[in-house]
Amino acid sequence: MRPLSTSRGCKRGGAYKSGMMHLLVLLALTLSCHCCPDRCLCSSQTVKCQNQDLDAIPSSFPTTTKIIFVTGNNISYINKDSFPIRLDMLTDLYLSGNELESVGAMVFENLPNLVRLDLSNNNIQAFSERALPVENTLQVLNLSRSFHNHSCMDAVLSVLQSGNLLMLKVLDLSNNDLVILPDDAFSSLSNLVNISLQNSTIISVLNGTLKVPPLRDLDLRDNSLRVLPTTTLAEFSLKPDLSLWLAGNPWRCDCFIEEMLLWLKNSTQVMDSQNLTCASPEALRHQPLLQVELSQLKCLGEMEGVLETSYVFLGLVLALIGVIFLLVLYLNRKGIKRWIYNIRDACRDHMEGYHYRYEINSDPRLANLSINSDV
Ligand SMILES: *[C@@H]1O[C@H](CO)[C@@H](O)[C@H](O)[C@H]1NC(C)=O
Ligand SMILES: *[C@@H]1O[C@H](CO)[C@@H](O)[C@H](O)[C@H]1NC(C)=O
Ligand SMILES: *[C@@H]1O[C@H](CO)[C@@H](O)[C@H](O)[C@H]1NC(C)=O
Ligand SMILES: *[C@@H]1O[C@H](CO)[C@@H](O)[C@H](O)[C@H]1NC(C)=O
Ligand SMILES: *[C@@H]1O[C@H](CO)[C@@H](O)[C@H](O)[C@H]1NC(C)=O
Ligand SMILES: *[C@@H]1O[C@H](CO)[C@@H](O)[C@H](O)[C@H]1NC(C)=O
Ligand SMILES: *[C@@H]1O[C@H](CO)[C@@H](O)[C@H](O)[C@H]1NC(C)=O
Ligand SMILES: *[C@@H]1O[C@H](CO)[C@@H](O)[C@H](O)[C@H]1NC(C)=O
Repeated sequence: MRPLSTSRGCKRGGAYKSGMMHLLVLLALTLSCHCCPDRCLCSSQTVKCQNQDLDAIPSSFPTTTKIIFVTGNNISYINKDSFPIRLDMLTDLYLSGNELESVGAMVFENLPNLVRLDLSNNNIQAFSERALPVENTLQVLNLSRSFHNHSCMDAVLSVLQSGNLLMLKVLDLSNNDLVILPDDAFSSLSNLVNISLQNSTIISVLNGTLKVPPLRDLDLRDNSLRVLPTTTLAEFSLKPDLSLWLAGNPWRCDCFIEEMLLWLKNSTQVMDSQNLTCASPEALRHQPLLQVELSQLKCLGEMEGVLETSYVFLGLVLALIGVIFLLVLYLNRKGIKRWIYNIRDACRDHMEGYHYRYEINSDPRLANLSINSDV
């Protein structure tokens, strides 16, 4: 009897405990369902916690939330504890302008249906390669002005290359100091249609950028491009649906841009072709590329430059030699003076001798004598 009662007591205890748990969970659910986090505004399924000087993501959002704005705060890191409650309905997360420095592993693990993620205007220095779940539905990733400097971008580039972002359609990498994109940077993003690389100090477009099959919009404005090589132009031409933005680059209008100019004048792919201008040479600066004639494209510019520099160099060398010569003269001024005096004296002696001889010669009485003495 005793063991039975004990077991019954245990059972009861268990039943009581689980009842309590249910109650608590229900309470938590009802609370989280209806409570808006401190310093946030909630309307329908959108929560906005903007410019509140928050130093962490608010801990509990209503579980029915679809859109979250936690922007303009002072949140230096996010990690897997930032979203402790699963938010199955959340599709949009905006974390712009938070001075974010670190994005930890598995941050977004509890947000399985995220479609749009905005991490723009931060100062990210560490980005975990496991920040995004392996299975995700992300379609828009905004990393505009997100990174402290380009050495902090390696992790995110490997996330892009990992092959996990299969649904990504729009990628904004603008206003980052990228300089050069690794080969294949986007080749794993098989649904990508829109890339912005505006103002990212890009100096050349590698093949990898174009390996994305469905690419439709490529924004390369305000970079450091001087010319597009023929291979790149050929690949652009292979994608008839591609639209390009290319203004604000320092195009160099010499003979090497000839191919590109021909392509540009015939292409319908460059949306802002009217706005492309030459940055060099000086004679063509600010000239719209479309108005440049092929005959104006010269490579003499560089030769002239070389000649100019060699003339300047020659001038400098001559000046140096002159200065050294003057210096030598100056340092030897005593010797030179002496030398001049010597010459003068010698001259005088000579002249005197001559004068004397002349006098002798001119004296007819002494002529014979002089002839005799000369012989
Ligand atoms: C932001 O947070 C840091 C500490 O994380 C603090 O030193 C800084 O003063 C805060 N800035 C503002 C504007 O509140
Ligand atoms: C990314 O964010 C910036 C600024 O926060 C915004 O101007 C830009 O339009 C956004 N890009 C996309 C693709 O939504
Ligand atoms: C990038 O920032 C880090 C941290 O501030 C710094 O140590 C590194 O030298 C910077 N790299 C470049 C290329 O500026
Ligand atoms: C261009 O990007 C740099 C960062 O690489 C940023 O500091 C600058 O403000 C951006 N310029 C514009 C006009 O947005
Ligand atoms: C791509 O981005 C540009 C500018 O950011 C925008 O105008 C365009 O509508 C976007 N296209 C798609 C398909 O999202
Ligand atoms: C670019 O890639 C294509 C094939 O995708 C290749 O034929 C071509 O040689 C490559 N060009 C350069 C400059 O690497
Ligand atoms: C100009 O473009 C058309 C297609 O838009 C193409 O058929 C034609 O060959 C091009 N002409 C030149 C000179 O590239
Ligand atoms: C060309 O530049 C002007 C002035 O910067 C701008 O207003 C216009 O929208 C640009 N045109 C295109 C097609 O981008």
